[in-house]
Amino acid sequence: VSLKPHNTFGIDVKAQQFVEVHQLSDLQTLLKEQQQNPTPLLILGGGSNVLFTRDFEGLVAKIKLKGIRLLREDDSNVWLEAAAGEVWHDLVMHCVQKGYGGIENLSLIPGTVGAAPMQNIGAYGVEIKQVLETVQAVERSTGVLKVFTNEECKFGYRESVFKNIYKDQFVITGITLKLSKKPTFNTSYGAIQEVLQTNQVKELSIQAISDAVCQIRSSKLPDPAKIGNAGSFFKNPTIPFTQFEQLKQAFPHIVGYPVANSQVKVPAGWLIEQSGWKGKRFGHIGVHSRQALVLVNYGGGEGSQIRQLSADIQQSVLQKFGIAIQPEINII
Ligand code: FAD
Ligand code: EPU
Repeated sequence: VSLKPHNTFGIDVKAQQFVEVHQLSDLQTLLKEQQQNPTPLLILGGGSNVLFTRDFEGLVAKIKLKGIRLLREDDSNVWLEAAAGEVWHDLVMHCVQKGYGGIENLSLIPGTVGAAPMQNIGAYGVEIKQVLETVQAVERSTGVLKVFTNEECKFGYRESVFKNIYKDQFVITGITLKLSKKPTFNTSYGAIQEVLQTNQVKELSIQAISDAVCQIRSSKLPDPAKIGNAGSFFKNPTIPFTQFEQLKQAFPHIVGYPVANSQVKVPAGWLIEQSGWKGKRFGHIGVHSRQALVLVNYGGGEGSQIRQLSADIQQSVLQKFGIAIQPEINII
């Protein structure tokens, strides 16, 4: 089975076997079969954060569990449960329409609900960890359903236990979010304020923020339906404040945001652009012209070529700035 329609990079590799999982019971049956007859198993959502570098010699299971349910509410909050196979942006739109605040800044992030806690998706000043109550997941080796609290997920910047110590050990089946009926709006990201002004928004609302975020994203991130990509290829690195100060002498225009413990987060997109990669095309693949952090497949590119390009970029950023940037996406 070709995985081309199942990854936003549009890489044409094959899976030995491919199934779609629509019911929890199907998943448990599948895991039981795995116990008796183990084969490599890859859990896939929307395929918007993976780079396939070769055929997958095993079973790819695409999670399609559906459902959004209001668990309870009080005067200020609602608790929503969403199944892993729901499209993330559909859940955001559901909440925007109902007036539930908390995830509007995460509008238009591709992929599924189940993958959202994997790397603690984040954008425009908000991360899912700020509203996430629990993650429901089935242990692959036992088929037992476990509930992880927010603390147990050990969320960090593009990080969680599921991407880390429990990598490939759980299938996320659903999440519970605590959202607000009396939202406080997060407009900390400069670009949001600019767009709100341009749109002449007089009164902030969940809808206005969601619209602004969609507008910003569409203006600089390539649409995977048109050009293959998986969003930011690398994470933004964090360096000690002292190193940042030194770099500032050699590169006065360097961008950086202070984070905890005298550390500075430097946008990898800036580092890559300054290293001369932005907009560069190499045959079927390249570096996006409006966002240097996004590697693209114009069609017909291979995952191994993109991986090689990413290694060349890492090497050149390391040479120029002394900073080792790390992939954000999952390379398979
Ligand atoms: P997939 O790519 O299918 O899977 C990602 C990883 O999670 C894989 O390792 C997979 O094995 C695992 N996985 C998937 N589902 C499950 C499950 N149910 N249980 C266990 N493991 C699972 N991300 C951000 O954080 N912020 C952004 O602003 C952002 N912008 C993007 C823009 C574009 C144009 C694109 C293409 C991507 C962007 N991303 C962004 C990355 C991506 O959207 C997120 O990582 C998203 O959560 C991936 O969802 P998915 O369902 O496509 O995951
Ligand atoms: N920049 C450049 N050149 C570029 C790209 C960026 O100089 O080619 C500079 C910008 O001028 C700006 C800074 O880098 O000063 C930050 O750029 P941007 O606002 O575009 O955000 P980013 O740091 O590149 C991160 C996330 C995105 C998320 C946006 C918005 C990571 C790895 N990426 O990108 O997430 O949507 O912020 O919050 O943290 C993703 O994870 O796939 C993703 C797209």
